[in-house]
Amino acid sequence: MSFDVKIGQQVRIYPGISDAHLSTMTWREYHESTKHSVESLRRAPHVLDWVNMPDPFRHYEGVPVLDLPADPPSPETPVLEVLHGVAGATPIRDGPTFLSQLLFYSAAISASKRVPSTGYQYALRVNPSSGNLHPTEFHFLTKGLKEWPDGLYHYRPSAHMAEQRALGGLEMKWAGSPAPVVFVLTSIAWREAWKYGDRAYRYCLHDIGHAWQALALSARAIGCNSFAFGQFPDDEVAQLYRLHEDEWPMLILELRGSSIPMREPNACETVWYDGRPNQLSKEITANPSIDRIFNATKLSSPECCTEPAPAGAGEIKLPSPASSTRSFGEVARMRRSALDFLGGTRSMSLTQLSAILAATSQPFCADFAGARFIQLFLYVHRVDGLEPGVYRLWPERSELEQIKSGDQRVAAAGLSLGQDLAGNACVAFSMIGDLERAVRAYGDRGYRYVHFEAGAIGHRMYLAAEALGLGATGIGAFYDEAVHRYLNLAPEHGQVVYHFAVGHPVPDFRLSA
Ligand SMILES: Cc1cc2nc3c(=O)[nH]c(=O)nc-3n(C[C@H](O)[C@H](O)[C@H](O)COP(=O)(O)O)c2cc1C
Repeated sequence: MSFDVKIGQQVRIYPGISDAHLSTMTWREYHESTKHSVESLRRAPHVLDWVNMPDPFRHYEGVPVLDLPADPPSPETPVLEVLHGVAGATPIRDGPTFLSQLLFYSAAISASKRVPSTGYQYALRVNPSSGNLHPTEFHFLTKGLKEWPDGLYHYRPSAHMAEQRALGGLEMKWAGSPAPVVFVLTSIAWREAWKYGDRAYRYCLHDIGHAWQALALSARAIGCNSFAFGQFPDDEVAQLYRLHEDEWPMLILELRGSSIPMREPNACETVWYDGRPNQLSKEITANPSIDRIFNATKLSSPECCTEPAPAGAGEIKLPSPASSTRSFGEVARMRRSALDFLGGTRSMSLTQLSAILAATSQPFCADFAGARFIQLFLYVHRVDGLEPGVYRLWPERSELEQIKSGDQRVAAAGLSLGQDLAGNACVAFSMIGDLERAVRAYGDRGYRYVHFEAGAIGHRMYLAAEALGLGATGIGAFYDEAVHRYLNLAPEHGQVVYHFAVGHPVPDFRLSA
């Protein structure tokens, strides 16, 4: 049985799913059913429906659109310092410039690529995204910003503009007094599901982790603090922001600080413009597994006691991290995913590796970050002073524990679904998520937080690698159970949730800044 639901011009095709089934999938069932194996890939060969490819840009049509000033000042604080918690101090005169700067260095278009065979040109952004499909949308509320009307906005990256969805004093208060700027990051799962099918929910969550850090670090580089909330009632937030039903609220980020240019508050009535969301594809094929896991990870129980992350030690003490003077502004806009890395003999230094690992170990400011859920395993190929092998990072002690020795290039590439870049990198990573501990603390909602944390760690690695003259790539595709077997991980030790690679990138001639 199947039925269709009309949403504006769009047709959603539901192949035999009713609401009754929506709550029946647990995080475990979803995770198990979306594991890659040689068998699963053979069973489900994927052909892309190019005609139906979703538009990576959402517009709310029919609303006032406010310009964000072009070329906002570049945050000059070195990015490695920002990653280590140092706040920048860019003097900003007014609200529009503040918002422009914040978004230009976190979510804007920063480059483009041209496909040589077809001439097709597409945009790349400051925040990375699996398949460059960009499921994440940025909505924000403002209150009391100088020379900027209070209201609810949606960021339009294609034009670096803000769509005004409501004017006036909407309030969202999460902790103490209301913040002057509150972001809600949403996911449009269809954008990812179009290419990646059921596994796409994982990538939406990683992308939120990347977008979160892109925004939080941009805010810090401008001189303000941010705090992320993952614990909120999804339906209420979706209603308050009048989100289109294909957009799911995932993360709320409050920004505060004396660098936000403020004016005297004024009271005014709320006027809703709403806007008509643009049609992303001619036809949207619904994905019951993703609907179910989204439903399962909606907040059901408040946090209970979070158990601390396991502690351990290794025999290799990491040296003082390498330094870099490259500014946040320059690095954030230059960051790119390497298509592949130069293999051969070119190595990276242990101090560079130390700097990248130190960036990942800095605390996160979020209501789900009381304890870390991700542990890093490294496949070391070419790091000066470190013999090739597999290592586990113990971040509290800045130590590496060697758990395998020997050349790992074939293993790292093979485990990453045969992607050469994981073998050609200087170092590749498996991020092992303690899903069981997260779920004990937060219920099925914890499934989101583990993936947010993985994406957030990945984002810090991207920026640290770029600062040091290296390149990086997030890798969402890996053979799950093969990784567990290779690393000798029992289920209670955690499960692989993300791969990553760092090295010397091959030049990409399709790229223009
Ligand atoms: C969660 C995630 C998973 C990704 N997985 C892969 C992957 O498996 N293989 C790959 O080559 N690139 C992967 N990428 C890199 C994206 O393809 C890249 O971010 C996108 O094309 C945009 O390019 P940019 O990062 O240079 O902006 C991934 C990126 C993210 C954020």
